[in-house]
Amino acid sequence: MIVKDTQFASFQQYSILIFFRLYILLLMRHVKTFFIKTYGCQMNELDSEIMVGLLKSRGLERIDDETTADLILLNTCSIRDLAERKALGKLGRLAKTRKNSALIGVAGCMANAKKEALLQKVPNIDFVLGTNNIHELNTVLDEVLRTGNQSVRVDPRFEHELDYQITVRDDPVKAHVSIIRGCDKYCTYCVVPYTRGPEVSRHPDDIFLECKQLVDKGYKEITLLGQNVNSYGKDKPEWNILFHDLLHRIDSLEGLERVRFMTSHPVDITRELMEAIRDLPTLCEFVHFPLQAGSNRILKKMHRIYTKEEYFEKVALLRSIVPNVALGTDIIVGFPTETDAEFEETRKALEEIRFSVGFIFAYSQRKGTPAMRWKDDIPQEVKDERLQTLLHLQEQIYKDERTKLLGQTLEVLVEAPSKREETLLKGRTRCWKNVLFPGTPDLVGTLQQIKVHSFTNQTLMGEILQPKKLLIVGA
Ligand code: SAH
Ligand code: SF4
Ligand code: F3S
Repeated sequence: MIVKDTQFASFQQYSILIFFRLYILLLMRHVKTFFIKTYGCQMNELDSEIMVGLLKSRGLERIDDETTADLILLNTCSIRDLAERKALGKLGRLAKTRKNSALIGVAGCMANAKKEALLQKVPNIDFVLGTNNIHELNTVLDEVLRTGNQSVRVDPRFEHELDYQITVRDDPVKAHVSIIRGCDKYCTYCVVPYTRGPEVSRHPDDIFLECKQLVDKGYKEITLLGQNVNSYGKDKPEWNILFHDLLHRIDSLEGLERVRFMTSHPVDITRELMEAIRDLPTLCEFVHFPLQAGSNRILKKMHRIYTKEEYFEKVALLRSIVPNVALGTDIIVGFPTETDAEFEETRKALEEIRFSVGFIFAYSQRKGTPAMRWKDDIPQEVKDERLQTLLHLQEQIYKDERTKLLGQTLEVLVEAPSKREETLLKGRTRCWKNVLFPGTPDLVGTLQQIKVHSFTNQTLMGEILQPKKLLIVGA
């Protein structure tokens, strides 16, 4: 009897198992389409392109309609509170608008920042995949489909090389290439060292091969990506290669027109890098040079490891080596204890240096960062006022800069037809200025000489001097 009962029980279990497997198979067959939304920086954009490649490699189709997709993937950012609130708001709305059976995955920096806590906050999430676990996307998806359980994978450091060959890029002209992941600088306000882990450089042969393949496919511009590209190679002394060496190697690629890099820490901007910008034909004359604040006390409290004077000296050296260089910057206003006089130092620094691009942010307190130990004591109105002051100043600087460009002829890489006006093309100068001009789509991917005749808030407007179908290497 006992044997019989056990047999019956195991038969029952077996049937349940078969039924469950069939159900899962049915579900698996169901996941045919996915929708992906990316928040945050270029590093997240590239990670999304890799995830798109991974999902396509298992036969899923990417669609733009989140209400019918079988899988919804949000690649999130944690840099400021607003970035997290945007993604959380989206997750809340998805609960109502998604297809009932749709799976929801959260990837990116918020995945690392919140880990399991995300599941408590938003119970509908099926998986949480950290920035260092992208290679496991399909494994996690299989696991969730097989077991029906929620899954959380968030490694603290980047340890498994990614298959970058799988990347699916929408842009046919410009490509991002990852050269270093993570950050070792530990600025006191910033979540990145915790959401992306310590710096890990990618092997130069791998980078070179990917760049070569991109050029062979017809890409004209490559942006080398990292939280601090200038640290490249320092974590791997045995490779005996630093950032400027890598730039020299990539510059040798026949057919590549432009190389950019994003982003740099002022401390690691070396004379060798400045000379590379001067000497290498592909390397564009634009450097993102994040100042963050103009007061030495605040810089110290931010752990930026340079003084205002050292920063100014570097800018002067760069400008003496590359006189036509354009500079970009990031600024944080309202850092804890920042006084009016200290803010004024930041304003003066912007006025003196005159950056071509300025990203200005109000300080946002981030959980897990050293700055959490200080009270977020600058009232929101004061932060807003300081923000507006700097935004107005930058507007004036942009206007002055654009006025000087009226009547000049600039080399522009044609990127795409303008979304707003069909008859217009858009492109960028070597110094990263947006330009719009009339032209036909067959010119996308070519370098053109554009004579500037006017400008709007964000963009220079011009005319092509003599359309050139063949590429001309820019000076
Ligand atoms: N590695 C890059 C920064 C990436 S984050 C660099 O050092 O240049 C982009 C910018 O976001 C930073 O430069 C900083 O200006 C801003 N930022 C980072 N954390 C912030 C915070 N807690 N509040 C407000 N802005 C912040
Ligand atoms: Fe953040 Fe500083 Fe690293 Fe930039 S250098 S990512 S601001 S910790
Ligand atoms: Fe955001 Fe992470 Fe980039 S916090 S800015 S997506 S590195």
